[in-house]
Amino acid sequence: MGSDFVLPVIQIKTRDGNFIPTLCVLHDGLIIQNVDEGDVEELACLEKRNFSFQQYGSDVLSAKKFLYFLTRANAVTLVARSGSAILGYVIIIFRKNSNIARLYTMAVDRPARGKGLAKKLLQVAEKLAAGFGCAYMSLETRIDNKAMQNLCENSGYQKKNFLKNYYADHGDAYKYVKRLGVQ
Ligand SMILES: CC(C)(COP(=O)(O)OP(=O)(O)OC[C@H]1O[C@@H](n2cnc3c(N)ncnc32)[C@H](O)[C@@H]1OP(=O)(O)O)[C@@H](O)C(=O)NCCC(=O)NCCS
Repeated sequence: MGSDFVLPVIQIKTRDGNFIPTLCVLHDGLIIQNVDEGDVEELACLEKRNFSFQQYGSDVLSAKKFLYFLTRANAVTLVARSGSAILGYVIIIFRKNSNIARLYTMAVDRPARGKGLAKKLLQVAEKLAAGFGCAYMSLETRIDNKAMQNLCENSGYQKKNFLKNYYADHGDAYKYVKRLGVQ
């Protein structure tokens, strides 16, 4: 997957008067853009396929929770589409008075994996966070999630903390942080 992409293309105004860029990343027919309300059911299916209830419990996002992130939370959900199919997504959460954005969750559906899509979603999420004035991006991932750890470590993230019993099944996590603008 090539590295050329264009953003932002248009800006949309949120309820609280802020502007959120609607991101369009055009490559091989692939678009990364803000989620739409009509996407939440499909996102919940994708989430269910990619995060087991046994491991993540109620952290597995329902359509209602995706809708909450879209309409009420101080967050941005981006989806990667090819045609009408959603191949992956990322949610970034912002906090008032904090310059640290949090990558809350990210997944790429199995058939689309291994082609650089997560790397692209992460890059776009970072550009978005930097555009919102954030200096850092943080995220947590399971200590046995080698794919995510490799992605983080190859993308300039530093392992900061070990989080014991972080997940519903008592699985442990690592917290990663990246200073934005640094590769
Ligand atoms: C983790 C995940 C998002 C990676 O998606 P992807 O689109 O396949 O990843 P990419 O193709 O962009 O790969 C980017 C980098 O991640 C690492 N990576 C990806 N898949 C990997 C694997 N199976 N084994 C080891 N490293 C892997 C590599 O460093 C890769 O870079 P490289 O190809 O230059 O070596 C995907 O496996 C997934 O959705 N997993 C289930 C949900 C999940 O764990 N989400 C993260 C929660 S924090």
